[in-house]
Amino acid sequence: MKIFLDTADYNSIAERYVTGLVDGVTTNPTLVRKSGVNYLDFIKTLAKDFAFESISAEVDGETHDVMLENANQFLNIDPSITIKLPLTKEGLIACRDLSMSGIKTNVTLCFSAAQAVMAAKAGATYISPFVGRLNDNSISGVELVRAISGLYCSHGAETKILAASLRDVHHVSRCFLYGANVCTLPPAVFDKMYNHVLTDSGLAIFEKDFQAIK
Ligand code: E4P
Repeated sequence: MKIFLDTADYNSIAERYVTGLVDGVTTNPTLVRKSGVNYLDFIKTLAKDFAFESISAEVDGETHDVMLENANQFLNIDPSITIKLPLTKEGLIACRDLSMSGIKTNVTLCFSAAQAVMAAKAGATYISPFVGRLNDNSISGVELVRAISGLYCSHGAETKILAASLRDVHHVSRCFLYGANVCTLPPAVFDKMYNHVLTDSGLAIFEKDFQAIK
């Protein structure tokens, strides 16, 4: 069970990295825009300052050639760099090319099991089903994770399921239960993973009793 952080905010990553529970980072253009950082510099800094198994860097372009050209800026920074590509025909052609060169890939914007099949065939390291955005459209995102997990298991696909677009703790545990290898969490959701009201009330009782027995 791997946990990645879904953010382009350096301090949010650094604060949670010290827990030892964070295995990687996913970024996207929207997150980078919000944080106001330079994308390339940000990815370089993450690779320099932290020992992550994967740092997703998204590329744009309408054709696979342009995507590959844009991926070049991120290659050779660090072995953890994972090129994030859209689940389109062109994205998967680029994915296949990168996979054959031993470069890690994360195929993003997956909304169906059929798309996940194509990504596995393209040799994707990770497939990112967007759970929250499916839920927003009255389709169960965790059921998609379950379907992809079932078919990848049946056929021995090596592509890992990276559940994305997660907005609450309940969906994280469901995704892991249904076979996700990785969940990428917004920092606020990561923080809530520790919490339970019964832990708080139980701890308050234990603290009171500790005082009594001292
Ligand atoms: C994943 O890699 C994406 O960056 C992210 O999970 C999208 O989440 P959102 O649907 O909350 O924007």
